Formats: sequence, C-alpha cells, structure tokens
Amino acid sequence: MKKKVLVTGCAGFIGSNLVDRLLKEKYFVYGIDNFRTGKRSFLNDSFKNKNFLFIKENLLNKNKLIKIFNKNIDIIFHFAANADVRYGYLRPLNDLNYNIIVTSNVLEAMRINKIKKIVFCSTGSVYGETNEIPTPENASFPIQTSMYGASKLSCEGLIQAYSEAYNIKSYIFRFVSILGPRYTHGHIVDFYNKLKKNKKRLKVLGNGLQKKSYLHVYDCVDAILKVINCKTTKIVNTFNLGTEEFISVNQSIKIITKYLKLQPKLEYTGGKSGWIGDVPFILLDIKKIKKLGWKPSFSIKDSILSTLNYLTKK
Ligand SMILES: NC(=O)c1ccc[n+]([C@@H]2O[C@H](COP(=O)([O-])OP(=O)(O)OC[C@H]3O[C@@H](n4cnc5c(N)ncnc54)[C@H](O)[C@@H]3O)[C@@H](O)[C@H]2O)c1
Repeated sequence: MKKKVLVTGCAGFIGSNLVDRLLKEKYFVYGIDNFRTGKRSFLNDSFKNKNFLFIKENLLNKNKLIKIFNKNIDIIFHFAANADVRYGYLRPLNDLNYNIIVTSNVLEAMRINKIKKIVFCSTGSVYGETNEIPTPENASFPIQTSMYGASKLSCEGLIQAYSEAYNIKSYIFRFVSILGPRYTHGHIVDFYNKLKKNKKRLKVLGNGLQKKSYLHVYDCVDAILKVINCKTTKIVNTFNLGTEEFISVNQSIKIITKYLKLQPKLEYTGGKSGWIGDVPFILLDIKKIKKLGWKPSFSIKDSILSTLNYLTKK
C-alpha cells in the first residue's frame, strides 16, 4: 500500500518542491495551504496527479485540522510557516501565530488522530550569533537574535515534548537559506527585483561582508527523504542541513550582476548585519547528516545560478 503523507505549506517554495518529489516516489499526498505566501501555480502539475489531494485551509483553525488529519496518515511534513525573517521585529505576532500556534495545532491534531511521525523545518537562525562555526547541532545558543529564530526554537521545544509524551517520532531540520526553482523570498530575488527597477544602483543592506551558506532546494528535499528512510531508534532526531561552503554578500552580488551583465554602483547601508536578526556569519556543521551518506550536489554558485535561471524564465 502507498504511504499516505500530509504536507502543510504545500504551495510554498520548499513545500511544493517536496510534493513533486513525494509524488514521484509514489506516496499519496494530502496538501494543506491557505496561499498566505504560497502560489497555486506551484501545484499545477500536482493537481493533475491522482495521488494528490489539496485542501485549502488555515492551520490556525484547529478544529478543522483535527478532522482533516483523521485519514490514517503516516507522516506529517510540517512546512507551513511565516518564513520571513527580516520583518519579524515589525510584525512579531506573525511568528507567534503562524509558527508557534500553528505548530501547536498541528501537534494537537496529530495527538488526537494518533499520527506518529513529524518532519519539521527549523532554521540555522536558532543558533543566533554563535561563536562556534561551523555550528554543530549540539552547539550552545543562549541568545536569540530574531523573532523568527525564537519562534522556531519554541516549535522545536513543543515537538520534542509531544514526541516524548505521545511517542511521536520527530525529525527536526535546521536549514541554511534555501535556493532554486520557485524561490520567492531572500537576498537573490531582492537584488534581482531592485536591479530590474534600477540597473545603475544597488542598495545593499549591511556592509556586504556578511558570510552565508546556501543549499539548493533539490538537495534539501533529498536530505530529508534520506534521513526519514534511515532506521533510527531515537524519538527526536535533529539535523543541520547546509553545504560546507560559504559566500559573502559581495561575492553573491558579483555572480548576480555578471549573470545579468550589469555593473551597478553599490550603496551600502552599513553595519555588520543588514537588519535586526541578520546573522553576520552562518555556516552549519553537516557532519551528522553526511554520516548517513548524504552530501549536497550543488555548489553555492550553481544554486545561485539555478535561482537566477528560474527568476528570469518565470
Ligand atoms: N526558504 C528558506 O530559506 C528557509 C530556511 C530555513 C527554514 N525554512 C522553513 O522551511 C519552511 C518552508 O519555507 P518556504 O521558504 O517554502 O516558505 P513559503 O512562505 O514559500 O512557504 C510557506 C507556506 O506555508 C503556507 N502557510 C503559512 N501559514 C499558513 C496557515 N496559517 N495555514 C495554511 N498555510 C499556511 C504559505 O501559504 C506557504 O505556501 C518554513 O517552515 C520555513 O520557516 C525556510
């Protein structure tokens, strides 16, 4: 029998790429989204597949979720979130509602329907401005620097507690920023849109020296499926997902402007961070997942180029 899985945030950037892959692997997929940031068009191919069933619902509606989850589902892939880090300090209730309350609702609906596996998208932002670089999963991270990171850490705590109390196996993935087809938010689309409006000048948030690691969405989805298909006796399983490379914002800009054949004048807003919560150096230690036989197939440069190809063709 085909495994039945449910993907929250199925119309989002990463969620829709995951749905494509799950359908390819012959899972039966229920997808939930309310198109808050996701796009119907990302599901165009999935709508044609008889193994996909879409449910338009707001995950804040707990009673509806409890009914929807009553379908003998094997795994919940909880990808819905407020994935926007930058504006968290302007709209802090978004992180509370769309990350913490929504995750609590998902866990309650799982408990009531006796669903025993959850995959959760966390973030490298939970490490804040750690001094331990590359940062391993067991690094200490005493200070949170973004509402987003703080809310994801709260979600991780809730998931761990539900896992222990109700024997729910959980897989928590802390990602670096993800790139590739259907990319909708982050520095590349930001620079791309600014350069479309003005080819001669480019405003850069911060001093351009921030160092970041990125992962291609195909590698991200691949890593998740690799981990959940490995036998583990642990109830809570936490993995970093990233590459072993990093790149400065200035180097990213060089790749983007060369691709677009532009030479804009760069104007820096200054400071080591571009905005509140922008981590100046993020590089995750990925030894733990590499031991399972996974490694990224895209370099950061190739991930940036793949994103630019998508943005120019869409
Ligand atoms: N993109 C990245 O670089 C990145 C990095 C680290 C972690 N993550 C995490 O990965 C997951 C997916 O991120 P993404 O980049 O695809 O974001 P996204 O915004 O493209 O996708 C999120 C999806 O969730 C849906 N959604 C949000 N609130 C909802 C609600 N209340 N009810 C129903 N649907 C709702 C949105 O409509 C959207 O389709 C998120 O949990 C995000 O925090 C993303």
